[in-house]
Amino acid sequence: MAISTQADSATSSRISRLLSRSLVKPMVTPLVPGDFLELVNPLRFGRGLRGRIEQVLSETADARTLVIRPGRGWRAHRAGQFVSIGIDIKGVRHSRCYSISSAPERADGCFSITVKAVDGGRVSTHLVREAQTGMLIHLSPAEGEFVLPSVSADPLLFVTAGSGITPIMSMLRSLAARDAMTDAVLIHYAPTPADCIFADELRALAERFPQLRVHLVNTRATGDAALSGHFSTAHLEQVCSDWQTRQAYACGPRALLATLDAIWSQAGVAERLQVERFQAALAPANAGAVGGEVRFSRSGRLAQADGAKPLLEVAEAAGLAPAHGCRMGICHGCMVTLKSGCVRDLRSGHIHRDSGELVQICVCAAAGDVEIEL
Ligand code: FES
Repeated sequence: MAISTQADSATSSRISRLLSRSLVKPMVTPLVPGDFLELVNPLRFGRGLRGRIEQVLSETADARTLVIRPGRGWRAHRAGQFVSIGIDIKGVRHSRCYSISSAPERADGCFSITVKAVDGGRVSTHLVREAQTGMLIHLSPAEGEFVLPSVSADPLLFVTAGSGITPIMSMLRSLAARDAMTDAVLIHYAPTPADCIFADELRALAERFPQLRVHLVNTRATGDAALSGHFSTAHLEQVCSDWQTRQAYACGPRALLATLDAIWSQAGVAERLQVERFQAALAPANAGAVGGEVRFSRSGRLAQADGAKPLLEVAEAAGLAPAHGCRMGICHGCMVTLKSGCVRDLRSGHIHRDSGELVQICVCAAAGDVEIEL
């Protein structure tokens, strides 16, 4: 269901903004052809890849699907990949990565992301509450290795929770669109039936393709479903006893993925499990980790940081707006030069201390006093 349509007002405000620039800007700098081209086609590639929200669909009380028409320069994604979305909130650019939920085979040239509002999730909450048809957003090319092999005869197993269903939905839609559905089992967890994103479509897919078995599990409601409660090995054995022989894909909260990692490793089949994380997998807390004073050399700002908080968050709390993308160590969009001191990679515990080295500030914390180029 489309929530609202504001394409006309968005277009007219863009036109008036550019017209006012066309009157004022010549006094300071000549207009370039790109300024006029932006009036005609705001999705042109000249100013970076952008997209326009074409539709906002309500999935659950706190999840929306945004159908996005990408501008020139976009290359079709592979099912399971993610994209970085950039939006301006109160004049500050924020970027986050979201799995693409649509199939690459979608005929209208659009793709979709499905966003769930989460506590403290500034961008997700903004997109769920404020996204409207006609809104322009910044995009990165689709990326990620969480994809199905192009050719494989292996039976599949998907284990997902919450919005972790989104990359799997893209895979299932793609298999369905290509009429290539294989032997597959999906076990998906959501607190209650009302929280289950894509429930109707998943059931319809299972009806259409007998080789696809779908188990929608509620963690807070029992009902009369075969399974209930959080993921357990008993669930696996109950509905997918040959799980060790399947190629498995999992996406969901950190705790679920850690559990799955442990089960697959213990069974000696770790290579058959591929996971997609919402957050970086952090190393166990280092009891000896200490923070220090962080000096941001370009802006001259100072901040105190503990040894656990990513420097990206320290910088934002200090009023800076560093460039970034995924915030979980994947995209390298937050690389900053280390000027002096040490930082600790929160995923591996590795200490970086070489002056001039580029460090990922979304997954590195201060390890003593440190100066970085921001
Ligand atoms: S923001 Fe993507 S690696 Fe840091």
